[in-house]
Amino acid sequence: MVDLDKIVSLCKRRGFIYPGSDIYGGFSGFWDYGPLGLALKNNVKNIWWRMFVDGREDMYGIDAAIIMNPRAWEASGHVSGFADPMEGGNMFNTMFKTSVGAGDESTVSYLRPETAGGIFVNFKNIVDSFHPKLPFGIAQIGKAFRNEIAPRDFIFRAREFEQMEIEYFVRPDAWKDVFESWRESVHAFNAAVGIPQSSVHELEVLDEDRAHYSKRTIDFEFDFPFGRKELYGLAYRTDFDLRAHAESSSVDLSYRDEQSGETFIPHVIEPSFGVDRTILALLASVYTEDELGSEPRTYLKFNKAVAPIKAAVFPLLKNKPELVAKARSVYEMLKKVEPRIMWDDNGNIGKRYRRQDEIGTPVCITVDFGTLEDDTVTARDRDSGQQERVTVSELHKNLL
Ligand code: GAP
Repeated sequence: MVDLDKIVSLCKRRGFIYPGSDIYGGFSGFWDYGPLGLALKNNVKNIWWRMFVDGREDMYGIDAAIIMNPRAWEASGHVSGFADPMEGGNMFNTMFKTSVGAGDESTVSYLRPETAGGIFVNFKNIVDSFHPKLPFGIAQIGKAFRNEIAPRDFIFRAREFEQMEIEYFVRPDAWKDVFESWRESVHAFNAAVGIPQSSVHELEVLDEDRAHYSKRTIDFEFDFPFGRKELYGLAYRTDFDLRAHAESSSVDLSYRDEQSGETFIPHVIEPSFGVDRTILALLASVYTEDELGSEPRTYLKFNKAVAPIKAAVFPLLKNKPELVAKARSVYEMLKKVEPRIMWDDNGNIGKRYRRQDEIGTPVCITVDFGTLEDDTVTARDRDSGQQERVTVSELHKNLL
């Protein structure tokens, strides 16, 4: 397993992830994504959204406010129960408090510790707007905040992080099968982003270790460089949340089955994915060191779907205007098809290859003197280092 320090250093050097407030010496538990980390994160979130929201008929996406009426966090049990033990055994509530409004009019509220809260309070809105039939889900991707007592292991345990969550509503008697099918979906998502099945392990969470709202939880653990730790969770939250919000708000949150006329509070299965933990598991999975042309190299073996840069285009020589002009035209043509194409004319070709390898670009395209004669370029594969000649007009079909 790769050393975490190597990943942290590559991430900073190559513009994936920087320490938060870096010029002030950082700020524990906060991280800033640079251009390549952001592109990687967007790819991961888009794969998730396409797989679980846009690609299905039974899912409704929302983007709720991060700061909610504090009564919602009282009802959900977070004000009284979302706490970790400190040294000395005292409990510390890890929700970040903030005050909303000015002076005497101000109210204490919290930055949401999970995106799930915004989903439950919108259950009725979605039912009223779309009249979905059970089972159906509401999904959200967004920031969550926890005042972790001991943030550590890079982006693994941060104080500001991002979640991709689904609350999937079912009839009370249907939860077991749905739980099983989400269990498979979690593995399908890992396969799509390129986290190998062999590094992911399911752990049945014991009664005493489960969150206050859950009757069954499976943690999906990953073999991180610092040990086997939670990557995602899958929980059966029963009707705990809807029931608690209905009682606290005095709004009826029951669901009426149009066919049978029955009225009940749906139960919920919750697959919860951490974006940043996905990024870290992915980086640990793809980080590779080998020897190419008898020189050591480091590369990131991203699949094409997540790679932040899909291809790089170079002119063989920077000081030959006809090569540069041709290479620019190839670059511009490809960029219209796939915007995440990079131009590089710095240093020699070998150095450019190594730079692209280190950020995980699957293919490098070089325009050389042959291109001017027969309109072919060299396409060099990241993993094998092998090169082949490809006709310019075929490039987008073969490579992107
Ligand atoms: N809504 C359920 C929930 O929030 P959780 O197990 O507390 O459950 C879900 O969090 C996921 O969010 C975790 O599996 C992990 O991927 C991510 N996560 C939780 N705390 C985190 C932290 N401090 N830093 C980074 N990711 C975190």
